[in-house]
Amino acid sequence: MSTTLSEQKKVTTLSFKQKKQRGIPLTVVTAYDYSSAMLVDKAGMDCILVGDSLGMVVLGYDNTLAVTMDDMLHHCRAVRRGASRPLLVADMPFMSYQVSVTDALRNAGRLLQEAGMDAVKLEGGAPRVETIQHMIQSGIPVMGHLGLTPQSINQLGGFRSQGNKASSARLILEDALRLEDAGCFAIVLESIPTRLAELISRRLSIPTIGIGAGNGCDGQVLVFHDILGLFDRLKPRFVKTFANLGEISINALAEFKNEVETRQFPGSENSFDMSDDEWNSLTGSLF
Ligand code: KIV
Repeated sequence: MSTTLSEQKKVTTLSFKQKKQRGIPLTVVTAYDYSSAMLVDKAGMDCILVGDSLGMVVLGYDNTLAVTMDDMLHHCRAVRRGASRPLLVADMPFMSYQVSVTDALRNAGRLLQEAGMDAVKLEGGAPRVETIQHMIQSGIPVMGHLGLTPQSINQLGGFRSQGNKASSARLILEDALRLEDAGCFAIVLESIPTRLAELISRRLSIPTIGIGAGNGCDGQVLVFHDILGLFDRLKPRFVKTFANLGEISINALAEFKNEVETRQFPGSENSFDMSDDEWNSLTGSLF
């Protein structure tokens, strides 16, 4: 007997590990609200990342730095209402985990306790190890993020690929090993050479999730709006557009405008009628 998606089991951090062990690629997509979360869940994804890419694709900022804890809590709650089967991971926004371990713990805890997330993601290697250890000791699963870490674009000099030199590649590998030791259940590898990502994926027992890191990672993540062609302000080479909903949406909206202006919409099928008796009673009583 086949099972529907909603009957399938909740994805957990343990399922992540098992998929890596079985060599089954993990699928991760971002979502930021109720309806996008429902679509991602229905499509059968393993994991929804409520990414701080929210700042760019939903809130219209130039980068992710302006996203706040309040923004994240608001959008995470909406995603939680739309999806229950995939593992739900919340990005920790810029400055919500860098100031102190205490701050980081409190903010990560809020994402689980107040917004129903299953895990958090934060950017960086060695300097984050202590914070990650405290989170894990407190029962908060952590996904790491190495390579191009967008919250550091001011240090990296923009959205540039990382680890292209042997020395910088070695640092990323060392950071990945540190994050695994610290207890991360998975690590996002963003914009690094394919062979470096393959090497890291082989060395780690936890899954790597690639974005712009080639085909040798244990899973892949893309931004919802990029997959569906809904965001064209920035198009890195690692993005593949699987449907052009941006164009389809503009055409549909233009059709609505045209039908309103030519009085084709609303038709009788979109309108409510009133019985003749009631109408006559109304108009007969008017002076
Ligand atoms: O914020 C985000 O969407 C991300 C992914 C691109 C990995 O961090």
